[in-house]
This record gives sequence, structure tokens and C-alpha cells, in this order.
Amino acid sequence: MPRQHYVAAIDQGTTSSRCIVFDQGGNIISVAQREHRQIFPRPGWVEHDAAEIWEAVRAVLDDAVGGLDIAALGITNQRETTVVWDRLTGEPVSPAIVWQDTRTDGLIRSLAGSEELFRERAGLPLTTYFSGPKLRWLLEETPGLRGRAERGEVLFGTVDSWLIWKLTGRHVTDVTNASRTLMMNIHTLAWDDDLLAVLDVPRAMLPEIRPSVEVYGHHRGIPVASALGDQQAALFGQTCFAPGETKSTYGSGSFLLMNTGHEPVTSKHGLLTTVGYQIGDAPATYALEGAIAVTGSLVQWLRDNLGLISSAAEIETLAKTVDDNGGCYFVPAFSGLFAPHWRSDARGVIAGLTAFVTKGHIARAVLEATAFQTREVVDAMDADAGLALTSLRVDGGMTADNLLMQTLADVLAVPVIRPVVAETTALGAAYAAGLATGYWPDLDSLRANWHRAAEWRPVAGGPSRERDYHYWKKAVARTLDWVE
Ligand code: G3P
Repeated sequence: MPRQHYVAAIDQGTTSSRCIVFDQGGNIISVAQREHRQIFPRPGWVEHDAAEIWEAVRAVLDDAVGGLDIAALGITNQRETTVVWDRLTGEPVSPAIVWQDTRTDGLIRSLAGSEELFRERAGLPLTTYFSGPKLRWLLEETPGLRGRAERGEVLFGTVDSWLIWKLTGRHVTDVTNASRTLMMNIHTLAWDDDLLAVLDVPRAMLPEIRPSVEVYGHHRGIPVASALGDQQAALFGQTCFAPGETKSTYGSGSFLLMNTGHEPVTSKHGLLTTVGYQIGDAPATYALEGAIAVTGSLVQWLRDNLGLISSAAEIETLAKTVDDNGGCYFVPAFSGLFAPHWRSDARGVIAGLTAFVTKGHIARAVLEATAFQTREVVDAMDADAGLALTSLRVDGGMTADNLLMQTLADVLAVPVIRPVVAETTALGAAYAAGLATGYWPDLDSLRANWHRAAEWRPVAGGPSRERDYHYWKKAVARTLDWVE
């Protein structure tokens, strides 16, 4: 019987919410998108309004789906962002604290001595990035909240959980999102009482942890059938199903994930051990992740805060007005430094300035910052997994920038490959929802949809980037220990 219907995915990201409808070949049928406000109340603080996000999601879902026949709905989302809402009214009780927010820096320092416990149980360094400390901050700073949490009157969730609750009425989270909270045991895939005790978070407010590929409930008769953190969804959409397969997504931040199979690999070089996905009751697949906080958002900062360009795409034109970086290096430690450094106390620098430097050189340094940060993560990945990278699958908005992709291939010295469907995050959530409902039969049918669209090869005999990388590392050293 020919299939008439489609699969829809909601991609709730840091700056916008989208809904994309796919057909069985993984082709895009329709797209709707809506931005939401970025709220910066103080230096280092970043907030969202979860109610505004829900309104945006509802609107894009209606716009993209229209009268189409939808077999399943998948969800993928910005990770770590922390929402607390009232169980009865369904309204958020505070602003959502966004993953980039560093307000918990002092709290993290007060937990010194517990680093090993968190690294061993949760697979994560103890930093401001993850949800648990953000939740603890809300419980401490919002009058009356702790008592209400202990009585189960208010609920915690990451954005997947918030949306599933709004769509189906169930309070659940998927295992990939739970793996970003510092509260889940990465080995047992359950909330860990010792971690909860250190963070002082009441269990009564936590969602039930479920597999990533499963029908959680229904929304207007459509099965809500997957949830994956956005980077894990991109891994799934890139069909990195075999150990060693690796992707890197270039959005506001950049996130390189390598499938490591059914065993969690503990990083000794500043990477995160995370859950890649879990299909029904099958054993979970793990990943090693290099998370970079600021890449595309640096280009936006150049546009919005400095006015050096009027659109993000212009960065390539400006960078091409010069042949090299003119000795200038830009380390965008705006949220401290993430992988492989994990230093909340780092702050950004532009190093190597002379009177020779023009805005073209700065534009180059901005693009190179993404390539050098990726190189740091790839070096850590090689050291941890003992698998030298032979090529890198890329996706995300910044992959439209040819100069950046060529620079990336040169700096990494491996081919960089982009698939035909570059919307791999939404595609991954759609694949997962379609698998849960039998729309796609198996992983092989998904692999068959993956096709190469573009490839950038390292330029043979091109300029060695080792000297540049050496100076990049010197610039990184200048960012540390700024906050006292
Ligand atoms: O960990 C943060 C990440 O999930 C955010 O991704 O694409 O919304 O910036 P993005």
C-alpha cells in the first residue's frame, strides 16, 4: 500500500523553534519557523520564557502540518535549558535558565570536591553548563519554591519534557536529555540519589526517564513518538549508527559527537560522556561529545553588537578581503570555555593585534575560531577513543560558508562532508518517531536516505596550519583566570 502520510519533527532550538515535515525518503515537505526572545538580565545570564517557546512551538506545528496526514511527531530540543512549571496551572514559575548561562559559577565552586563523583556517575564535568546546578539555583533563589517542589506542586524539565507535557500531559524526559542534567547515572540510566543529595534537588519534581524512541502519548491523535537532545538528534539524522561514526553540527555553538557503542567511554581529555540514543528497551548507544559554546553566535555578535557585518552570510565576503588572519586570534569565551577546557572563569580575548589588523582580519579570526575549537575537540577525541578521524560529517547553518568549511578541512587535515538534507537535527527526530511507529522499518532504511552533497578536502601542499594552531593555543591561555 503506498504511504500517503508524513512524519513531522519539532526542533526547539536556542534561538528559534521550527517544525519540519518529511516524507519517507527524508525529503522536506514543509517548514515553519518562529524566533523567541533572548533575555540577558545581567552579564553572564541568559534566559528564555518557556511560555513564549510553547506558543512558538504550537504556531509552527500548525503552520507546517496544515492539513497533512502525519503518522508521527518527533521532538528535538536545545539541551540543558531548565524549566520549572506549576503542575496545576501549567504555567512556568520562573524564567527558563538557558544552557549558556553562567550564573551558577559560585555554586559550582562551592561544590568543589565532588568533581570525581559527578564525572564517574554522570559522565560530566561539574560546570555551569548542565541543568542540575541551574535547578538548584532556582530552588534556592525563588521564595517558596523548594517547599512546593518537595510537595510535587511544581515540576522540573528540560525543554523536551516541557513540550511533551504540554503536548500529551505526561511528565517524562528522554534518556539523552536526562544525561545532560548531572543528576542521571550514565551507567544505570536512572536518577542517582547521591548526585541528587549533593545538588539538593527533591526527586518529587523530576520527570520519568524514558527511551528516546517510544510513543509517549498523543497530540490531537498524532503519536508523539521520539525525543532527543538536538545534538543527539543530529547524530541520528546523520545516521552515525556504528561505533566511530562522527558528526559535527555548526549552529550557535558547535557539537561534535562520536558514536561509542553500548559502553560509556570515560573521557580523560575534557569530553563529555553522553547518551546518543535509546531505541525502545534495547541497550542505549553512547557517545563522546565535544561541546563548543560559541561559534555561530560569535558571527551574530559581530553583526548585532559590533555592527561589522549586516548579515551573518556577509562574514565570508569580509573574510575574503584578506589572505590570512594578519596575526590576529579571537577566542570567544563568552560563556567561559567549554570542551576540552571547562573553565567557567575564562573570558574572551582578541589577541595579536597590531595597527595592521583590519576588519577583514577580524572576520577571518572569527571563522578560524570555529575551526581551531573543532581541532581542539578532535585532538581530545583521538586521545580518548584512540580512533583517528578519517572524515567529518557536518551540518548546521554555518556549513553554508565555503571558506569556513575549507578552513576546517585544512585545520583538521581530513575531508569535511555535508549531506543533501542538511536539516539533520529535525530529520533525526523524525527518523526516531518514524521508527517508533513503524513508518520506517529499521536503521538500514534510514542509512539508505543519506547522500553526500558537498565535500571539502584539505588542500594538498597548502599552508601548514600548525603554526596558526600554536598561536591559537597561546591566545586560549590568555583567556583563563580572568574572573576573580
Ligand atoms: O547543548 C546546547 C545545544 O543543545 C544547543 O543547540 O542548536 O539550539 O544552539 P542549539
